[in-house]
Amino acid sequence: MMRVGIVGFGFMGRMHYKCWQAMEEAEVVAICDSNPNLIADANKAVGNIEGAADHIDFEKLEVFSDYDKFLSRGKVDAISLALPTHLHPDFSIKAMQAGVHVLCEKPMALDVAECERMIEASRKTRKVLQIGHCVRFWPEYAKAKEIVDSGCYGRIRAAMLQRLSAPPTWATDGWLADEKRSGGMVLDLHIHDTDYVQYLLGTPKAVRSFIARGKTGGALHVATHYRYDDDKVITAEGGWAMAPTFGFEMSFNLLLEGATLTYDCTRSPALRVCPCDGEAFTPDVAGGDGYSRQIEYFAGVIQGTNAEEVLTLEQSMESVRIIRAESESAAKDKMISL
Ligand SMILES: NC(=O)c1ccc[n+]([C@@H]2O[C@H](COP(=O)([O-])OP(=O)(O)OC[C@H]3O[C@@H](n4cnc5c(N)ncnc54)[C@H](O)[C@@H]3O)[C@@H](O)[C@H]2O)c1
Repeated sequence: MMRVGIVGFGFMGRMHYKCWQAMEEAEVVAICDSNPNLIADANKAVGNIEGAADHIDFEKLEVFSDYDKFLSRGKVDAISLALPTHLHPDFSIKAMQAGVHVLCEKPMALDVAECERMIEASRKTRKVLQIGHCVRFWPEYAKAKEIVDSGCYGRIRAAMLQRLSAPPTWATDGWLADEKRSGGMVLDLHIHDTDYVQYLLGTPKAVRSFIARGKTGGALHVATHYRYDDDKVITAEGGWAMAPTFGFEMSFNLLLEGATLTYDCTRSPALRVCPCDGEAFTPDVAGGDGYSRQIEYFAGVIQGTNAEEVLTLEQSMESVRIIRAESESAAKDKMISL
């Protein structure tokens, strides 16, 4: 039985807790969070994805506020690390040095140098470090990748991806709005689609981005064009300044030579394959969601049982590098080569 700890028990920490709870070969035994009102706050509904606020049985959990004590006394084999982004490098490195495997939420870190430090620690300690790029594991996104890679509908000619959210008001002490701690909306939210573009097509040769900013200068909305060697048109757009009543939407349209793949999480059926020749249909997709599937994959990496590699640390770092180029492109009002 794998003994698991959750570090950072806010919106995503609770989501990880719920996913780990559903796994037979793992048991969540300890939590670490600096919030003194943790137990009262933990049963409130927060975040932009449903399901994170199910009841938590604290009687079965050892709760720590001090990370060093958690690492020395918690006796965990692996952690889900769901802290504000600026804390990802130091906390994950410390865990690996203490002999603990780490599933760290995305984005990996605020900059590439910090990512390199994390990769080096994983290499030296021989502990698994995986970054929470859950979209690669999201059943419909995974199915679309499988269809594209099969080549049955030819090459991608265009892709349009969107991720739109109402303002994320749940973040503890407003850390998400502080770009020094979160990297802002482009790194925090839009990286999901940037990473999926990289997953589908590799690193683009250049990016051209436009960013709308709020009154205090924070990024509200981004649109990026990813350039590749041929004339395909790849765009991703994201923002967290939709009206509060808007909620959350993620969607894509992938234009292949022989079909259009279309997904919208607010639609039913959410994913459709529309062949140029024949009737549109809804393909079977895996059960569960991206969070639980990435955790199953993480457990598989630790146990050496995964059939294929879905995500590497270098790719996770690459997504941070591409995002940084997108921000630079908007700031300098020009295309940035990668
Ligand atoms: N994969 C996704 O879809 C997704 C969605 C939302 C957030 N995230 C990522 O998850 C991470 C956490 O985001 P969140 O929305 O859960 O934030 P949150 O504010 O809801 O939770 C953060 C938690 O960390 C705790 N914390 C802060 N500093 C600490 C410290 N020094 N020691 C111990 N605990 C500390 C806070 O008390 C809080 O409970 C971020 O990296 C974010 O980008 C991922």
